[in-house]
Amino acid sequence: MIVLEKKINDKSVIVGVLGLGYVGLPLVREFASAGINSGKSIIKHVPHATVKKMVDDGFFTATSDMSKIRDVDTVLVCVPTPLTENREPDMQFIVKSSETISKYLQPNQLISFESTTYPGTTRELVMPILEQSGLKAGKDFYLAYSPEREDPGNKKFTTRTIPKVVGGLTPTCKKLATQLYSLAIDTMVPVSSLEAAEAAKIVENVYRCINIAMVNELKMVFDRMQIDIWEVIRAASTKPFGFNAFYPGPGLGGHCIPIDPFYLTWKARQYGMPTRFIELAGEINTNMPHYVVGKVMEALNDRKKAINGSRVLVLGLAYKKDIDDLRESPSIELIELLRGKGAKVDYNDPYISKTPKQRKHNLGMTSKKLSAEMLKAYDAVLVATDHSDYDYNWIVENSQLVVDTRNATADVSKNRNKIVKA
Ligand SMILES: NC(=O)c1ccc[n+]([C@@H]2O[C@H](COP(=O)([O-])OP(=O)(O)OC[C@H]3O[C@@H](n4cnc5c(N)ncnc54)[C@H](O)[C@@H]3O)[C@@H](O)[C@H]2O)c1
Repeated sequence: MIVLEKKINDKSVIVGVLGLGYVGLPLVREFASAGINSGKSIIKHVPHATVKKMVDDGFFTATSDMSKIRDVDTVLVCVPTPLTENREPDMQFIVKSSETISKYLQPNQLISFESTTYPGTTRELVMPILEQSGLKAGKDFYLAYSPEREDPGNKKFTTRTIPKVVGGLTPTCKKLATQLYSLAIDTMVPVSSLEAAEAAKIVENVYRCINIAMVNELKMVFDRMQIDIWEVIRAASTKPFGFNAFYPGPGLGGHCIPIDPFYLTWKARQYGMPTRFIELAGEINTNMPHYVVGKVMEALNDRKKAINGSRVLVLGLAYKKDIDDLRESPSIELIELLRGKGAKVDYNDPYISKTPKQRKHNLGMTSKKLSAEMLKAYDAVLVATDHSDYDYNWIVENSQLVVDTRNATADVSKNRNKIVKA
């Protein structure tokens, strides 16, 4: 039996995780709670307090000393994969982490990349860097790709209960990676190659991106026809087969869906292939904040007000409800567009007390505390994120006008004349 396989079987395997963010941390938690012996994690920065228990229990060590890679049996890599200014894959984190691993790579280690990326990354980009160590992939060390499927805020699934797709460079690489992940995750989905695993993840996100674009477009069409898209989706989704409900919103947000499909677009170009669905979906979704601002302007106009000089309160900065992540959030775009038209904009978000400096934006705003008096002072309240904490009856009751991009006010029965869906 291979040494690594024995260590996995007797749970003495030491797991290193490179990149401890939204994805890496839950993964560490699953391995630690599975009681993986002396589970060590290598991270760039130490995040919040949940780590403390794992440290206290002896299953987790955080370090920025990358030479510790020598001491682990496997390295799981969960570093960011954003887009550059020109909307092309920004591979700097993948390259940097591959270089770091290569420097300390040991025979018989298993390296598994989890970051979402275009098909071909592991074989064409990562493997040559790792082999600069002098060790041969598939022979001296094992190489796998297993995409992360984290859904922050989703209470129905945890890292453990979300099935894990695994592809390996060789059958042994795949077998070892599958065995390793089985320690922390209930269901394994082995596939035939690294590329199939990379493509599976991209397909999941392309599917969401396109379907969300479709309902966003239908929302605009039905609005013109004075038909409520949310009512239509509710009715259509009673069909017990062949229909999956997607919901419109103010635009796409998050680290994945607005970004990942363009990794495929970039790669497809190398094969002379366009990805028209992705481009079209991108076009529609990118336009949504403009559509919403248009609806705010119309609603103010109906009340004999101009957007220029109006006070607008944006409710929700996060890209989706009940989380604190504002990466690529349409709320940021909405604030900038509204400000561009002369509106005086504030925001409230129970999870984001002030706007951090981001790569592209630095709004320098702090969350305003909600009160009946302050709500009344705004010409319009724009519901951008439908956080569950909000009392929508109370918000509508105390606001002059509520522009709702999420159907968050669906159950509000009084003062419906104050609500405009956008
Ligand atoms: N957030 C999600 O919901 C989600 C879901 C599925 C897939 N993904 C994918 O998972 C990957 C990671 O996403 P995330 O949301 O966890 O990102 P993140 O930014 O929250 O975390 C990434 C971490 O990696 C660290 N890092 C960067 N370079 C490093 C290096 N060279 N060495 C060590 N650490 C390094 C960063 O400091 C950061 O802590 C991305 O490819 C993303 O597309 C994310």
